[in-house]
Amino acid sequence: MKFITVKTYEELSKKAADIIAAQIILKNDCVLGLATGSSPVGTYKNLIKKVENGEISFKNVTSVNLDEYVGLDGSHDQSYRYFMNDNLFDHVDIDKSKTYVPNGCAADLKKEGEAYDELIKSLGGIDLQLLGIGLDGHIGFNEPDDFFTAATHSVTLDPSTIEANSRFFASKDDVPKSAITMGMMSIMQAKRILMVANGKAKLDIIKKAMEGPVDPRVPASILQLHPDVTVICSEN
Ligand code: F6R
Repeated sequence: MKFITVKTYEELSKKAADIIAAQIILKNDCVLGLATGSSPVGTYKNLIKKVENGEISFKNVTSVNLDEYVGLDGSHDQSYRYFMNDNLFDHVDIDKSKTYVPNGCAADLKKEGEAYDELIKSLGGIDLQLLGIGLDGHIGFNEPDDFFTAATHSVTLDPSTIEANSRFFASKDDVPKSAITMGMMSIMQAKRILMVANGKAKLDIIKKAMEGPVDPRVPASILQLHPDVTVICSEN
């Protein structure tokens, strides 16, 4: 596991974008696993700049996102499909038909999960998975539990996650109570993993996840079993 600690969010975002850009340059038809939340926003801004400058192209890239709220369709401004379009896809030359986000409105979420795992398999797996980390140690929406779940599945969000994400909604009551998330198998089978964690508040959970025991109560601790993880943390 490689740790990069930087002072500012700007530095974190630049470094993360440089790593993703290198992946695209090395394999222009790569499969990127992408994340939402506040941490990767600056990374996406830097990637957009790189496309505008002609340094990289998303023309042949496929993306698979980690998760989606249950009950929000892509037109809802807090859905993760909307977030991805707004923060990245609408501003780069990606073929949107090759951008995948789990369908949080699927009638049968179990089937949706199975289909999502099959899709990732059929793409040949993920070349680089971008992750954030929740204050409770979640990755994707794999919340603390008694066991790790391998498959894409629906989850009840932890009260601390609902609290943390309420900053994006009009009120806490508007935050969906459940989500569908890629499970640990697709995440851990990614060839490389890049985690971005912004701000002092994340430092404790990062330390616990990366230096403590591998424990499903700290979901990100499973990353200790992956051979190629880079964690970029900013101090401010
Ligand atoms: C988002 C996701 C979540 C976030 C995490 C951190 O797709 O899967 O695990 O990465 O909740 O969110 P921020 O970056 O907003 O602190």
